[in-house]
Amino acid sequence: MTSRTPLIAGNWKLHNTVAESQALASAIAAHVGNGLACEVVVGPVATSLSAVSQTLRGSAVGLSAQNTHWEDSGAFTGELSPTLLADVGCSHCIIGHSERRQYFGETDAGVRKKVAAVLAHKVVPIVCVGESLEQREAGKTLDVVLGQVEAATEGLDAVALAPLVVAYEPIWAIGTGRTAKAEDAQDVHRAIRGRLAELKGESWSDSIRILYGGSVKPSNADELLAEPDVDGALVGGASLSADNFIPIIDAGVRRAES
Ligand code: PGA
Repeated sequence: MTSRTPLIAGNWKLHNTVAESQALASAIAAHVGNGLACEVVVGPVATSLSAVSQTLRGSAVGLSAQNTHWEDSGAFTGELSPTLLADVGCSHCIIGHSERRQYFGETDAGVRKKVAAVLAHKVVPIVCVGESLEQREAGKTLDVVLGQVEAATEGLDAVALAPLVVAYEPIWAIGTGRTAKAEDAQDVHRAIRGRLAELKGESWSDSIRILYGGSVKPSNADELLAEPDVDGALVGGASLSADNFIPIIDAGVRRAES
């Protein structure tokens, strides 16, 4: 039995109106109630954060933003800040998702600043790392992933980083229906934990949740979550319906109880 509480997080990406977001959040909140043996977080689009925050009031479901800027305020048209995320009730923020790295020019340096900024506002960073298919085939998976982990945590100590969550999401598995084999995911997760231990100490790295993401669904969640270093899941497509997301939450509960 692991001492790390599993975490199942839904990344709704660019989907759902306010009303649709609230309906989905309330179905999930009804299942989670006052809390389960695993933590549950949902990540709506920015325009739904406020409404979903109201919907989730009194439930144990956490609320995640999908991105933030690192500055608190200022002349940054179109951005959101950690101050505003905390103000609207966000407990978590996804940082450095591969779609942001690929399409919106997110860099390791930006990821690091965002991690520090959200931690200063007591918002938990869910830092995404992962290799492309080309990088995997060139045998560079660990170089890429461990480099991203190192960059994201640079300059912060284990105390500041206590709430950190890492999500390993191989880019070739995101939205493709192609999941990493559980043992391949475990190899990368173990390597991430090993690097975290080298960087900031073993007792800290033992406490850090490392989620797997990339085509997680009800049919593969148990197998992935049976691996010793897979502490949860960051779920995209399958988080958009309660019928798919709830069985994944239940797999997280089974991991917690195993
Ligand atoms: P997917 O997305 O579950 O649709 O593959 C995961 C993610 O991008 O976080």
